[in-house]
Amino acid sequence: MLDLFSTYQIKGLDLKNRVVMPPMCQYSVTKKDGIANDWHHTHYVSRAVGGTGLIIVEMTDVEPDGRITDYDLGLWSDDQVPALAKIVEDVHRHGSKIGIQIAHAGRKAEDADVPVAPSPIAFDENSKTPRELTTEEVKGMVEKFRLAVRRAVQAGFDTIELHGAHGYLIHQFQSPLTNKRTDEYGQDRTKFAIEVIRAAKSEMPENMPLLMRISATEFVEGGYGIEDSIEFSKAYKEAGVDVIHVSAGGEGQIAAAGRPGTHVAYQVPLARAIKQNVGVPVIAVGRLDDAALANAVVGNEDADLVAVGRGMLKNPYWTLTAAEQLRKETKIPEQYSRGFQLK
Ligand SMILES: Cc1cc2nc3c(=O)[nH]c(=O)nc-3n(C[C@H](O)[C@H](O)[C@H](O)COP(=O)(O)O)c2cc1C
Repeated sequence: MLDLFSTYQIKGLDLKNRVVMPPMCQYSVTKKDGIANDWHHTHYVSRAVGGTGLIIVEMTDVEPDGRITDYDLGLWSDDQVPALAKIVEDVHRHGSKIGIQIAHAGRKAEDADVPVAPSPIAFDENSKTPRELTTEEVKGMVEKFRLAVRRAVQAGFDTIELHGAHGYLIHQFQSPLTNKRTDEYGQDRTKFAIEVIRAAKSEMPENMPLLMRISATEFVEGGYGIEDSIEFSKAYKEAGVDVIHVSAGGEGQIAAAGRPGTHVAYQVPLARAIKQNVGVPVIAVGRLDDAALANAVVGNEDADLVAVGRGMLKNPYWTLTAAEQLRKETKIPEQYSRGFQLK
């Protein structure tokens, strides 16, 4: 019987439990240099102290104009590696594994003078109209992803996640709403993502798994749905993705507030559909912060791993609290042992 506290292994990534902290932008870089600071260090290391199996560092961008805001993390320069390496080292010291989400915001880069995108279509009436990337620039963008992944590997991360969800650049190429190109990257809307996946793999050690976050459905008239995302996920798996992190939405908010079906576990059926139809391990996410519910998602084999976002913003020790509630064995820091009643 599997449960939230069963171990999990994929390639060289060995997790002590099935709890994932999903990427969550902190908008906390103070010097606009994309370099992680004390806030990031405390934020991620606390969740390791809190027993999380896998921590995924927030959206970290491949070029300055790929940031949502100037306060986001970046990996376009070697100067950005040491601060991340220190976070990795200290997270490891507390027994968690750590990945990083590599991204580009595309037309949702709010602080870029002129954002870039597959097609010159603004996000909404308050957003800048992006400039269409030339075919050569798209190829250059693949290279920027490759170099960011190389730096993430140098920083010592255990895994890499590509951000293919929530209306950011990879998603923009994937969606019929935002990709109106007539070149090779428009004729095949999966081409950009597939090239990024291959570029990432070329920089990663053989036994390091690659995660990819997708929006499994767009919740928008004229957008793609689960049947389409099953098809492109098959192509991504074929190109080298080992685990799919199944989110949804994207032409609106990052979290699906106000969208159809925001009840607890609202994205689990999408995760199950991808898992069953693509034959790939999946991470489920979205209002799974009730421990019994998260445990059931793993026990029922709807997903291999469960991510808890806002629940972990509220409680860095979410995983230890869940173990106590579910009466599971887990290692709690000696210093905190009197705060928990584990069997
Ligand atoms: C403050 C905040 C920042 C977020 N930033 C990111 C991000 O950088 N990358 C991403 O893929 N999702 C991001 N998300 C979405 C979360 O990873 C997660 O999918 C979402 O919050 C739903 O899970 P939950 O109900 O457990 O919070 C963010 C969510 C929040 C609340």
